[in-house]
Amino acid sequence: MAGNDLAAKSSGKINQTTTSLNYLLKGEEKPVTYAFPPPPGVATSTRRNDPRTVTVRDARPVADHLSLDRQGFILTHHATRVKNFYDQQEVHEVYYPEIEKLLKEKTGAARVLVFDHQVRCLPKAQAGVDHAREPVRAVHNDYTIRSGRRRVSDHLREEAAELVRHRFAEINVWRPIEGPIQESPLAVCDASSIAADDCVACDFIYPDKVGETYAFTYNPNHRWYYFPYLRRDEAILLKCYDSAEDGRARFTAHTAFDDPKSPPDASPRESIEVRSLIFFPPEDQNATGDQAGKLPG
Ligand code: OGA
Ligand code: FE
Repeated sequence: MAGNDLAAKSSGKINQTTTSLNYLLKGEEKPVTYAFPPPPGVATSTRRNDPRTVTVRDARPVADHLSLDRQGFILTHHATRVKNFYDQQEVHEVYYPEIEKLLKEKTGAARVLVFDHQVRCLPKAQAGVDHAREPVRAVHNDYTIRSGRRRVSDHLREEAAELVRHRFAEINVWRPIEGPIQESPLAVCDASSIAADDCVACDFIYPDKVGETYAFTYNPNHRWYYFPYLRRDEAILLKCYDSAEDGRARFTAHTAFDDPKSPPDASPRESIEVRSLIFFPPEDQNATGDQAGKLPG
């Protein structure tokens, strides 16, 4: 289904919400952000926000029509055996294998490597506990053309040269730690509504390396979606990189947002996202797994 038809389908009365998203105000210089306290006299971030009012549509009514290769994101039901997402060992031992299995099923990947995760909860982040960070209120994508490819050599050193000869992708799996999510939900932009010119590479400085992410400049064509009241047994798969250059979704802008419809006594959002590399079988470079072929038009 073409993006505009999809938008029309989900523009019904259900939970469409209007909010402000932090786009990038583009300057002359490449924006730089430090992931740790920068040297004296250096700004933590030179990124400047350009807040814009947008409509964020309820994606639930169109969930069956979403595709990782068109919109760049899908919703899936997924039960987990994890009891405590703040327990790093449990996440590595129980959750990572669960997600590797899920990603194989959903994408047709021959090989999946979960390499990182992040828990988010504002009060816990403020209290400095449990490795928690706060939700990200800036429109971004986790990788660029350059850094997406570099991830393969970062994590699979000697195998990388062979692996990048065939199609691969990077998918985030995002779910509530406690559901349903009542505030600061995740907004995701239909990848087919993003123009190449909207993507601006930014440096992200870590103690031991410089990463690169995309920020996005405002474009009124962007079509934003969210899944209201996401539950603990639901997960969003979000494609943040695809090596294919054949027109399918490669990058998917996303951000946390303030939902004016959140109840005043909403409990703070708690979520976990895992980052993964997925490698498609050399003989099946068109694999998508998700509803491939089901989309009309
Ligand atoms: C992500 C991400 C931000 C948030 O999952 O890649 O950017 O607020 N999350 O959950
Ligand atoms: Fe992200």
